[in-house]
Amino acid sequence: MTKGRRGFMGKAFGAVAGVGAVASLYAMKRSWDPLPSVKAAGFTMVDLTAAEPNVLVVEKWRGKPVFILKKTPEMVAAQNEEQTARDIVVGNDHFLVCIGLCTHLGCIPAYRPDKHDFKCACHGGEFDASGIDTLLPPPSPMEIPPFKVDGTTLVLGEAGPEYEKMKSSGITV
Ligand code: FES
Repeated sequence: MTKGRRGFMGKAFGAVAGVGAVASLYAMKRSWDPLPSVKAAGFTMVDLTAAEPNVLVVEKWRGKPVFILKKTPEMVAAQNEEQTARDIVVGNDHFLVCIGLCTHLGCIPAYRPDKHDFKCACHGGEFDASGIDTLLPPPSPMEIPPFKVDGTTLVLGEAGPEYEKMKSSGITV
């Protein structure tokens, strides 16, 4: 291969890799963009109307990542009772809200929209779209933080009746 051809191939490859990198950065930023929210005195108020189905958003609450996932109607229809019991229901919409830390050793699992599950890259643990552990080593589901539903606003940090019910039935700690 001549020097000129190598140079051309290098530039072409660089351009393709660059486009790929920008696309994946955009996808990453999009999935990590929080919803419109207000933070005050240990509470985080999140506007759930801006959530898109099957797109994970990550909020921050007391220094921890909180996953918010609006489920599609198909995902809801395919759920069992245990999964549905962990849903936060606002109008007709079902949401997963949980602390986005793997219950094995605390890594942040990644959402796989095509599989509707979470994969933890640290030791291969998996969780379903309700945050329930489905593949070891995680010993338990991802935790649900104290929350309250106020209209279409999710208040993280305040224990409302829906959260108290989950707590008393052992769904979260
Ligand atoms: S920290 Fe997630 S599997 Fe180990």
